[in-house]
Amino acid sequence: MPAPDTAAFGPDFVWGVATSAYQIEGAAAEDGKAPSIWDTFCKVPGAIDNGDDGEHACDHYHRWPEDFALMRAMGADAYRFSIAWPRIVPEGTGKVNAKGLAFYDRQVDALLEAGIRPNATLYHWDLPQAQQDRGGWPERATAEAFAEYAGVVAAALGDRVTDWSTLNEPLCSAWIGHLEGRMAPGVQDLTAAVRASFHLHLGHGLAAQAVRAASPGQVRLGIVNNLSPCEPASDSEADLAATRRADGHINRWWLDPVLGRGYPQDMLDVYGVELPVRGNDLATIAQPLDWMGVNYYFRQIIADDPTGAAPYFRQLAGTNPEHTSMGWEVHAAGLEQLLLRLTREYGVKELMVTENGSAYTDTVAADGSVHDPGRTSYLEQHIAACARAAAAGAPLSAYYAWSLLDNFEWAYGYDKRFGLIHVDYETQKRTLKTSGRRYAEIIRAHSGESVSV
Ligand code: IFM
Repeated sequence: MPAPDTAAFGPDFVWGVATSAYQIEGAAAEDGKAPSIWDTFCKVPGAIDNGDDGEHACDHYHRWPEDFALMRAMGADAYRFSIAWPRIVPEGTGKVNAKGLAFYDRQVDALLEAGIRPNATLYHWDLPQAQQDRGGWPERATAEAFAEYAGVVAAALGDRVTDWSTLNEPLCSAWIGHLEGRMAPGVQDLTAAVRASFHLHLGHGLAAQAVRAASPGQVRLGIVNNLSPCEPASDSEADLAATRRADGHINRWWLDPVLGRGYPQDMLDVYGVELPVRGNDLATIAQPLDWMGVNYYFRQIIADDPTGAAPYFRQLAGTNPEHTSMGWEVHAAGLEQLLLRLTREYGVKELMVTENGSAYTDTVAADGSVHDPGRTSYLEQHIAACARAAAAGAPLSAYYAWSLLDNFEWAYGYDKRFGLIHVDYETQKRTLKTSGRRYAEIIRAHSGESVSV
């Protein structure tokens, strides 16, 4: 099968793979790491499928050299990973844990030695529990603590790491963690959720300043949002209005303030919660960005839900019969649409797809191989969608596949597998799946370099 036509990306396009700390590292209490809100949430009965937790995960904390070797064999140019705040500043603020910093320091050196560009995320949901005990994201002090920690990391790694993002998917931290309660810290309170969203944004702005001030090297800074095009379930006025609210809740609330447009007034009206803004906060939040990260998985089909909770909409199943094991509709055109919207409506000058991938139930064959046609096709379809967007003018500089490894999929535990590499959690054996081989072929076809997997 020919690889998707990626000529529109140009020769400097970056092909990457992505992970996050809590989902792969394990070593939950090693070398001075303190508990995060996810260590705590995993202990809540019924919170996580099968009672799973991230205590051992993929044991990447000890096995990262093997994982990096596989990544290199795949031909990846870049690796997007997150740094665990509770390894670096275990109490959230104050004392720095040198062993925690040393772990990432070794990784960065090894990546550069392997010719792989690090792209470091400062927060992928693992707030130190001590900071949660002081109120967590609904409190301003957490935004300030985040900036303190970000400055520590940038001072230590900024001589070698250029690409930084502050937050991964703040929507999940605020809406899923504080409104729906399906993620840590498991709160269900609209006021707490709106306050959390504001302090996440403020934390982003303060951390961006701190990284730029503390880094000894060049900084290219971004933020990573999970975004979805929203389409009405019907052309009724009620569904159209609900779709506008859904777009506000899922997309505009997360884009407008960081891009200097302030918070969308229609959504402030819908939430009816006063933002705890002080002084120049809105300017702080709107720090200049070098790039914008987009995590894309599916589109949203929206219907009005007048008797539900704010923001009064329901998500319906998509019409494409192809769904992943998360129940998410496969709809690659949504990624193209999103990239073009960010280009045309928001004027973003550099975009990266920082996550895109799919969970399917994998079977290990008798010969040990893992053949995953669903995931392989998802990958091809979405890379082709990115190429169409680039050809139409989207300034896309990178594509990071989610994920390098099967890993801890939050409230779904280990059953949902997103990896290009299969992980046997009993033995920790890694096996490159067909999708991983296909990704290597696509990278090779684009760059013309030789990759052996
Ligand atoms: O596994 C998650 C990741 O942590 C954040 N983005 C979505 C992925 C798949 O659900």
